[in-house]
Amino acid sequence: MPITVQGAIARSKGAPVELTDIVIPDPGYGEVVVDIDSCGVCHTDFHYKEGGINDEFPFLLGHEAAGRVSIIGEGVTHVAVGDFVVLNWRAVCGDCRACKRAEPWYCFNTFNATQKMTLVDGTELSPALGIGAFAEKTLVHERQCTKVNPDADPAAVGLLGCGIMAGIGAAMNTGNVKPGNSVAVIGCGGVGDAAVVGAKLAGAGTIIAIDRDAKKLAKATEFGATHTIDSAGLDEDGVVAAVQALTGGFGADVVIDAVGRPETWRQAFYARDLAGTVVLVGVPTPEMMLEIPLADVFGRGGSLKSSWYGDCLPERDFPMLTELFLQGRLPLADFVSERIRIDEIEAAFAKMASGDVLRSVVML
Ligand SMILES: NC(=O)c1ccc[n+]([C@@H]2O[C@H](COP(=O)([O-])OP(=O)(O)OC[C@H]3O[C@@H](n4cnc5c(N)ncnc54)[C@H](O)[C@@H]3O)[C@@H](O)[C@H]2O)c1
Ligand SMILES: [Zn+2]
Ligand SMILES: [Zn+2]
Repeated sequence: MPITVQGAIARSKGAPVELTDIVIPDPGYGEVVVDIDSCGVCHTDFHYKEGGINDEFPFLLGHEAAGRVSIIGEGVTHVAVGDFVVLNWRAVCGDCRACKRAEPWYCFNTFNATQKMTLVDGTELSPALGIGAFAEKTLVHERQCTKVNPDADPAAVGLLGCGIMAGIGAAMNTGNVKPGNSVAVIGCGGVGDAAVVGAKLAGAGTIIAIDRDAKKLAKATEFGATHTIDSAGLDEDGVVAAVQALTGGFGADVVIDAVGRPETWRQAFYARDLAGTVVLVGVPTPEMMLEIPLADVFGRGGSLKSSWYGDCLPERDFPMLTELFLQGRLPLADFVSERIRIDEIEAAFAKMASGDVLRSVVML
């Protein structure tokens, strides 16, 4: 029997988040229903609401979630009812050309539920990143569920489901930060601070946090930044010069853009050492364009990479990072700025914009 629960949707471009009844179908082959415990508010949810991802409204928002498997469909073997899981939006297929060439973190054919959740009038919902977890229950593919240690606080480990994993992985996987490397991170929200944490875990020497909000820089220092640059009064060249001044005049080995705008990407491009690495983990919107002298692309060398979900493998990384958290070696709980109700998401977007929170987490 389909189940009706409350969910938070974005009905049309720019419209405020709306609480409404949504209908969850019985899980089909390989699908499961998960009772959501917690779901973080990520900047990507805001991008969805503003139409910055695509126009497939209405969206069921929310995708940084932990919960318990409550109903399983036919053929489900990966999880059982009662399992404590973190939801992931890149359930690797094992069979596409990326998977076959042993680069499954790029998987081009990731699994989602094929049935649709709907509004009560039958309108199909587009779940954010194939998850849609600002709801009491959601429908996902069984492979989107990664079992982790149930001793962990859902509000903290649920964040591994998106932004925090993306940031940690941007440093450790995409940036391939090595012990002693210098790393600069532009934009110190949840994703950028997680990149600071990832750089520290990987043994970086100098970790430079850059933001135009002084509150964010103070927090980044708590997470392990060794130096900070307040970019509020600086132009692009000023930011580059400040990074060079902190790295022997050369620039950082790895620069991570956790904002995702042309100007921050250019700062990253020029603020790295020759043959250094740029990692773009912030998500640009479709109208953004980049103009850069091709001679500089050639002349500065190195690698220019994007980080989809921190190039993570959920089945490998979520349980491992949960254990590091439980051992006190990964400060996941420090990313939880506040725990809120499902009717406070719009207010959480405002706090995100004003820089007052790293993560507001909806408790369900
Ligand atoms: N690649 C991925 O898989 C992935 C996953 C999750 C989120 N993201 C993206 O990462 C980005 C950051 O997400 P978040 O949740 O941390 O957002 P956030 O809003 O919490 O943080 C953004 C930070 O950037 C700072 N900032 C904005 N403009 C700046 C500028 N010009 N110079 C310096 N700092 C600036 C803000 O002050 C803020 O601290 C978003 O674009 C989000 O969509 C990507
Ligand atoms: Zn694949
Ligand atoms: Zn996200």
